[in-house]
Amino acid sequence: MAEVAKSLSGSEGSESGSKGYKGSEGAKGPESGFEGSDGGAYPFPPGELGGCPLAYHRRRTLAPVAPVALPSGDEVLLVTRYDDIREVHAGPHFSRNLRYPGAPRMLAAADFGEDPNSLTNMDPPEHSRLRRIVQGAFTPRAAERWRGEIRAIAEGLLDDVLAAGPPADLRTAFAFPLPVEVICRVVGVPPGDSPLFRVWSDVLLSLTAGAAADRLQAGIEFAAYVDELIADHRCTPRGDLIDDLIAARDEDADRLSEPELANIVRGLIIAGHETTANVISRGVLALLRHPEQPGVLRAKPELLPGAVEEVLRAQIPGHGALLRVAKEDVVLPSGHQVKAGQGVLAPFVAANHDPERFDDPEVFDITRADNKHLSFGIGPHYCLGANLARVELQVAFDVLVDRLPGMELAVPVGELTWSAGSRVCGLNELPVTW
Ligand code: HEM
Repeated sequence: MAEVAKSLSGSEGSESGSKGYKGSEGAKGPESGFEGSDGGAYPFPPGELGGCPLAYHRRRTLAPVAPVALPSGDEVLLVTRYDDIREVHAGPHFSRNLRYPGAPRMLAAADFGEDPNSLTNMDPPEHSRLRRIVQGAFTPRAAERWRGEIRAIAEGLLDDVLAAGPPADLRTAFAFPLPVEVICRVVGVPPGDSPLFRVWSDVLLSLTAGAAADRLQAGIEFAAYVDELIADHRCTPRGDLIDDLIAARDEDADRLSEPELANIVRGLIIAGHETTANVISRGVLALLRHPEQPGVLRAKPELLPGAVEEVLRAQIPGHGALLRVAKEDVVLPSGHQVKAGQGVLAPFVAANHDPERFDDPEVFDITRADNKHLSFGIGPHYCLGANLARVELQVAFDVLVDRLPGMELAVPVGELTWSAGSRVCGLNELPVTW
């Protein structure tokens, strides 16, 4: 395997792949020498139409566990096979605690990965304690209760789109405002403030080194905004999730600290809109590029939940993942060894496109069976908002297919542009006509 990698890279003198990792008996070390063939630096350019990076496909075949350089300059292992990715996120051997000296970092400057009060940066049992406090608001039943309200928001947005007439930028007019409005109502944020946190979240999710100062400033402003929001809810409760979290904090301070409370609210605001909005835009594009599929959905609405799962599998906007670090020496299902202390990047998008797990993974098929994608992650950090996001996506596609039966792209597909240098890869605009 390392020989193949070496010949691909053409790098003279790179040793046979062990790079100092001895490995336990029978286990393979990470493939080295692969860097030259794909640049070896994360993030990689997306594939066609913002799709899974080609580098992941090549690595999955030739070097499924191989070094990659992060924007910080630190080197971690990039893992590209479904079973290995599953093991990194769901198995007991990896941690999200990357806050010790010398830990691998995504960015050279501080970012949200270092906040010890964030749900995403905790390991069990601390993580389980915090998650228990908030998860009741995101059960399947709790998410279902929002369906009617979500539909009303979606219908209202489409009323405006139809009234303005074609063409429309569906990203701005529908895909973004829908999840923003929903998360504002669920959490208890004034929807009129959404332009503020749209700007903050764009900056905070950026991966470009030049954005470090902007990121710091956005983080300070966003934290001040949320602190004020919480103070305001303490004075005037509104019966929303922020009130519930404040009650959990104020009635029993051991359950939830003040920084944890603020952190959960910030996390929900950002996680609750950005990904869903991008999945809606990308999903609409996927449907428009397969013009027979919206008609099939209209004729057979019972296919909708499966169609949403296929949109999720094929169209997640994140090409990366939050880093993990090995707590001990581990042999992954592919037989490759990861040494204790090594950082690992195991992107869900690479799992979703693994041909060993999905037949013809590059084919977009709303009737796909056995669609166990990893778009919401897996393991302890499985997406808290998955049930809510599923309801939002089902409503969004249902309403669009029903009310815009003649929808098509208003520009040639090649003219669409994609965001770059961010943790999310989304469409900048989605011009449609009908
Ligand atoms: C289609 C939309 C969405 C996608 C694809 C998505 C994807 C993900 C993924 C992959 C993770 C796990 C990251 C990891 O383990 O490294 C995650 C975690 C999380 N998501 Fe989502 N998400 C979506 C929507 C939402 C929504 C609507 C909310 C809030 C209501 C939300 C809140 C969260 C939170 C709080 C976490 C952290 C959970 C933890 O660390 O325990 N997400 N999401």
